[in-house]
Amino acid sequence: MQTQKTTSSEQARSALRERLISQRNALNAAQQQDAASALTRQALALPELQQARRIGLYHSVGGELNTAPLIDTLLEQGKQLALPVLHPFNPGHLLMLDYSKTTPMRPNRFAIPEPVLSCQAVVPLAQIDCLLIPLVGFDPHGNRLGMGGGFYDRTLAPWLNGKLPGLTVFGLAHDCQQVEQLPVASWDVPINGVITPGRIWRF
Ligand SMILES: Nc1ncnc2c1ncn2[C@@H]1O[C@H](COP(=O)(O)OP(=O)(O)O)[C@@H](O)[C@H]1O
Ligand SMILES: [Mg+2]
Repeated sequence: MQTQKTTSSEQARSALRERLISQRNALNAAQQQDAASALTRQALALPELQQARRIGLYHSVGGELNTAPLIDTLLEQGKQLALPVLHPFNPGHLLMLDYSKTTPMRPNRFAIPEPVLSCQAVVPLAQIDCLLIPLVGFDPHGNRLGMGGGFYDRTLAPWLNGKLPGLTVFGLAHDCQQVEQLPVASWDVPINGVITPGRIWRF
């Protein structure tokens, strides 16, 4: 039943996206700033992140929780970071690229800043210990709702199939992005946990 895309479940997912995105957008600048500081504190206390040599992250946009303070702090700690770019040959997939303070960036077609593509900078997912990803909604069962492009679902399909045993995946979100139960599709990749400004969720 889950493999069949029903109109009603698609409608439920997009209605939920709309509601959660507007809740997130309703946070004012001071609330966003407090959230980013609190999130950075929570993330730095996470053993998986402390032990990680290489961490995958992303640049936030719009009402998303601001990841810039966390990125800066991790770079200061000497962590190796990688950020996603839209895959140049594999539509709907992401490719991780090495990132430092001097990496040239440019906005992609969704206006998300990404590292300028360079073959030498490609970081295979197998070399990432902890991947932090954006989300629109999550539930206490580990389900994740994204923006609707399915990019992380496609990119993490090998992980779901057990091919990347060394990788841990956490979502980053405002506390108001938690719901009781998300509608789930067969291709949705559940995550190991979510870091919010208020707490760390483990599933
Ligand atoms: N592993 C996959 N293989 C093929 N298509 C996929 C895969 N994962 C997601 N998709 C497609 O991406 C689209 C968006 O996925 P969805 O889960 O709704 O988005 P999001 O995870 O961003 O909320 C779906 O229509 C689905 O068909
Ligand atoms: Mg999905």
